[in-house]
Amino acid sequence: MNTEKLQATARMMVASGKGILAMDESHPTCKKRFDQIGVEATEESRRLYRQMLVTAPGLGRHVSAAILFDETIRQRTDDGGAFAGRLNAAGIVPGIKVDRGVKPLAGCEGEKVTEGLDGLRERLAEYAGLGARFAKWRAVIAIGGALPSAVCVRANARALADYAALCQEQGLVPIVEPEVLMDGGHTIERCFEVTESVQRAVFSELAARGVVLEGIVLKPNMVVSGAACAARADSARVAELTLRCLKRTVPAAVPGIAFLSGGQGDVEATANLDAINRLAAGAGAPWRITFSYGRALQQCALTAWGGEASQAQQAQQALCRRARLNGAASDGAYEAAMEAAA
Ligand code: 13P
Repeated sequence: MNTEKLQATARMMVASGKGILAMDESHPTCKKRFDQIGVEATEESRRLYRQMLVTAPGLGRHVSAAILFDETIRQRTDDGGAFAGRLNAAGIVPGIKVDRGVKPLAGCEGEKVTEGLDGLRERLAEYAGLGARFAKWRAVIAIGGALPSAVCVRANARALADYAALCQEQGLVPIVEPEVLMDGGHTIERCFEVTESVQRAVFSELAARGVVLEGIVLKPNMVVSGAACAARADSARVAELTLRCLKRTVPAAVPGIAFLSGGQGDVEATANLDAINRLAAGAGAPWRITFSYGRALQQCALTAWGGEASQAQQAQQALCRRARLNGAASDGAYEAAMEAAA
């Protein structure tokens, strides 16, 4: 295994002032997003939308890496080049979602496990040939009543570790994404408790599989109140509990942590990232802490685009602006007043 190469790629993915653009929506998720703007989701409309994203002028200033979907890594931009090549030329590391989605976990009602390990070695080798330099696998853990069960947490942590070991064998940096969902009325304290136990399980399984921690990127949820919680905690509390959780569970060898947005609004996700980084700077946190947002980066661009080629430039500007604000937040240098400026 080429540990130095893995480490160098992981460091690029979490470079200062930058974060990761998640644009790896599966077909059903992409359809949901396109339905909001009244655009039919087809192979061509997905290509046009994603081409608009990756060709945004200056995107590489605040986007270090982009996560593609299987269809996209095989598609070409109008100039005939592959998406991965286009990203590389813009100084953005191309990567690929490799899980095959979540399925009901047998014997555990209401819980899910992520599938996609069968044949993964061969798929990873193919993706590396198509230009991918990292991969992503997302596990989802729901909170509610007695959930999550220990069985669900363990099954998902094991799958993440199996995936991560295979990625490193193939020279790809694994983004390890255990997402504790925001759905529900639970308190932030309950989210803390569950996120801590999930991350402990994940790092224990990664160690058992001999995964090189210097060559991964962790993509966790922030510790937040449930979306339907009556009294949602503010950014200061989110930062306090998120950082406490990370310090308890994430070894210093991990180069970076790139949060998912998970349904937070775009300004909320930026403000929370900023609050976490301000607190982390004072606490001497050992890792880079940045973003790997899907919705919280793309929503503004999706709305501005609306399926119209004539709106592409405006959409690209909206995307780059959001990336710049999140880039500032990744350095703890975001101010709410920046939202009013262009
Ligand atoms: P969101 O930021 O929209 O949660 O998406 C990130 C992601 O990649 C989920 O797997």
